[in-house]
Amino acid sequence: MHTQTKAEKMNTVQTRQILASKPKKLRINIIGVGKVATTMAVLWHRSNQIHIQSVWNRSISASRQLQHLLPHIEIISDLNDMSPAEIIVFGLRDQILPIMAEKVSRMQWMTPDTILIHFSGALASSVLMPDKKKALTGSMHPVFAFSDIDTAISTLPGHLCAIEAAEAVQPVLQILAQSAGLETFIVSSEQKARYHAALSASANFLVTLNHYARNMLESISIPNNLADRLVNQLMLQNLNQLQQFSPAEALTGPISRGDMHTISKHWHSLTTQEQNLYQALAIQTLKLTTLSQAEQTQIKKIINYSQDEIANE
Ligand SMILES: NC(=O)c1ccc[n+]([C@@H]2O[C@H](COP(=O)([O-])OP(=O)(O)OC[C@H]3O[C@@H](n4cnc5c(N)ncnc54)[C@H](OP(=O)(O)O)[C@@H]3O)[C@@H](O)[C@H]2O)c1
Repeated sequence: MHTQTKAEKMNTVQTRQILASKPKKLRINIIGVGKVATTMAVLWHRSNQIHIQSVWNRSISASRQLQHLLPHIEIISDLNDMSPAEIIVFGLRDQILPIMAEKVSRMQWMTPDTILIHFSGALASSVLMPDKKKALTGSMHPVFAFSDIDTAISTLPGHLCAIEAAEAVQPVLQILAQSAGLETFIVSSEQKARYHAALSASANFLVTLNHYARNMLESISIPNNLADRLVNQLMLQNLNQLQQFSPAEALTGPISRGDMHTISKHWHSLTTQEQNLYQALAIQTLKLTTLSQAEQTQIKKIINYSQDEIANE
């Protein structure tokens, strides 16, 4: 049986105090209703556990769009007119967060128990309130690409969500995530930048790679719709393989087989710009193979990987 340490007991007491001080339906004010905040607001409202109260946004159009979905919300143009709430959610672009948080810190009704939350995957929640005595802070990062609000509202539930906060605040974030249908895991504030770099690489660079491959096909007069299908089908099929197998097991193709002739043909068919990305990815791909050092060196020479870099490895 797990016996609670003194620190854990303190945290449990603090958590109980935070939750006990909140009314049955948590009231949320939102500052910045972009794609993520609009989606979360609608899902929170639908959960019937949370009351979306007031919203402020730089341009009125986004606030109106949310009001169209949730007619009861109050649109605020001056932050000083915002009614008290237990939680303030910042749905702003990352670099604006400290600036707006500083303005919010001057609101009269703020207490040391008010919880400030943002959605950034890369920034620690402390950007919202460096002085821990003035308010509690937390961040929740839904692991999802919010390209379009309607699609996000219907497909976000079931996805993962990183939460980062002091232990006493984590249960509140868990309630918020779960009421939007999200499955939580914890990330520490120190590791957020690297955590987010990894996720951005998997999401954003997949899209970049898709574009890179399509462009090559279109340059040899393969029609757009066929290029789309070819690249999307292969990417999806490989992603499906990755659900079942490790990257090393899922890898196929000339690099995995050590097929020098084909790699050389690829290399000479590419423009100098295309070669830059092909080279960087091929070097990483070699690490997934079981090719001997001699075979790997031969491939590196074909793709003009500098002799100095080969010698330094
Ligand atoms: N997009 C994703 O896939 C995704 C996924 C997970 C987490 N996140 C995080 O969620 C947060 C919001 O992202 P989002 O995609 O929802 O952003 P978004 O749709 O681009 O909305 C950005 C928001 O920031 C406001 N804003 C931008 N510049 C401003 C300024 N100078 N002053 C005041 N307000 C300003 C915008 O107001 P206007 O309407 O007036 O322009 C809008 O409310 C970010 O922290 C992001 O890292 C995003």
